[in-house]
Amino acid sequence: MKKLMEGVYWVGVVDWALRHFHGFELSTHRGSTYNAYLIVDQKVVLVDTVWSPFQDQLIDNISQIIDPARIDLIVANHAEVDHSGGLPAVMRHAPKAQVIVSPKGAESIEGHYHQPWNFKVVRTGDRLNIGSSDLMFIEAPMLHWPDSMFTYLTGKNILMPNDAFGQHYATGFRYNDEVDQEELYQEALKYYANILTPFSKLVSKKIDELLAMNLPIDIIAPSHGVIWRKEPLQIVRKYQEWAAQIPAKSAVILYDTMWEGTRRMAEAIGYGLADEGIPYKLFHMAVTDRNDVITEIFKTKAVIIGSPTLNNGLLPTITPILEDLKGLKFQNKIGAAFGTYGWSGESVKLIEEHFGRCRIPVVAQGVLAKWQPKEPDLEACKNLGRTVAAAVREG
Ligand SMILES: Cc1cc2nc3c(=O)[nH]c(=O)nc-3n(C[C@H](O)[C@H](O)[C@H](O)COP(=O)(O)O)c2cc1C
Repeated sequence: MKKLMEGVYWVGVVDWALRHFHGFELSTHRGSTYNAYLIVDQKVVLVDTVWSPFQDQLIDNISQIIDPARIDLIVANHAEVDHSGGLPAVMRHAPKAQVIVSPKGAESIEGHYHQPWNFKVVRTGDRLNIGSSDLMFIEAPMLHWPDSMFTYLTGKNILMPNDAFGQHYATGFRYNDEVDQEELYQEALKYYANILTPFSKLVSKKIDELLAMNLPIDIIAPSHGVIWRKEPLQIVRKYQEWAAQIPAKSAVILYDTMWEGTRRMAEAIGYGLADEGIPYKLFHMAVTDRNDVITEIFKTKAVIIGSPTLNNGLLPTITPILEDLKGLKFQNKIGAAFGTYGWSGESVKLIEEHFGRCRIPVVAQGVLAKWQPKEPDLEACKNLGRTVAAAVREG
């Protein structure tokens, strides 16, 4: 529990041990926090809860401030269980509390808990007086679920945007100015790249809408990670920059291999890029965290993917990242493919076809080497690197 200002408390939980999230979909090397906020005014308001394994800690935190039975309103900005998981427990303490939801939130909270709670549906611009201040709501559909909503507290000038502007970042401190800035931005970017990228146009529009409201914002208090107190709009500006998806003039090479042939090709491609002065990072997907690679892809212009042919297809460690490339709808990328084969040799074609589905233009002829690559194959790889480098430079 931490008092943020008069009548406003952080009652969330730090989950230091969390190493994967959304099941195993997202890695969280630095743990996370589930931020819930308690506002004590004439009405007592809880904004979001925590993941259910931590619900007792949430109740304890609230109890240090006020009897949880006194909660009048619970704002459920987003139904995902890391924020709504504690709702049933809180409702057991305060069964008459009204649950404030966006129109889509009514559906998704009901869909998760199947409870006849006392819901109140709010829309953008709606205000609820809680005594000395108002709660104001801003629907934020697809940032990152249809139900997502921001809650703003007038007078205290706090924006609680739920997952937007959050980071999976466990620390002993609650504020952005108290933590390592490099770590903070690594986690904020990883969050954006892995979760918000496909909604970038909506992110830009929502930020424009938010800024046009001219709300005084002293604190941005997301539902994960630290609270933006020092220059809170810095993360809003960063999101504008990220939403534009202007990549660095660099490349990512990712591959897998059984007997090292594809690795040698990957490295030769790297030499070609380096010859032309284009920085690159090279990842062996069987031993690299997928979400970290997605973050690197987010930042970079060129994505070069290699795989040997296995059973007329790709090595299975390559396919997840191909799914991500499509699902995350990256903009402003270019691609190229390479790989080895023994007899049928489908891998390069499959990767190139996939680039097509992702609307990522293939800018260099793919290199396919039979069995172990020979010198001319490696030279062709170097040339592929040079060709991609030229395309990167052209922008
Ligand atoms: C289990 C297995 C299945 C394979 N299936 C195919 C295949 O369907 N078509 C093909 O052209 N090559 C196939 N190959 C051959 C590999 O693509 C070839 O050995 C390649 O050189 C391996 O490259 P690497 O050194 O990067 O692992 C297969 C190899 C293995 C071990």
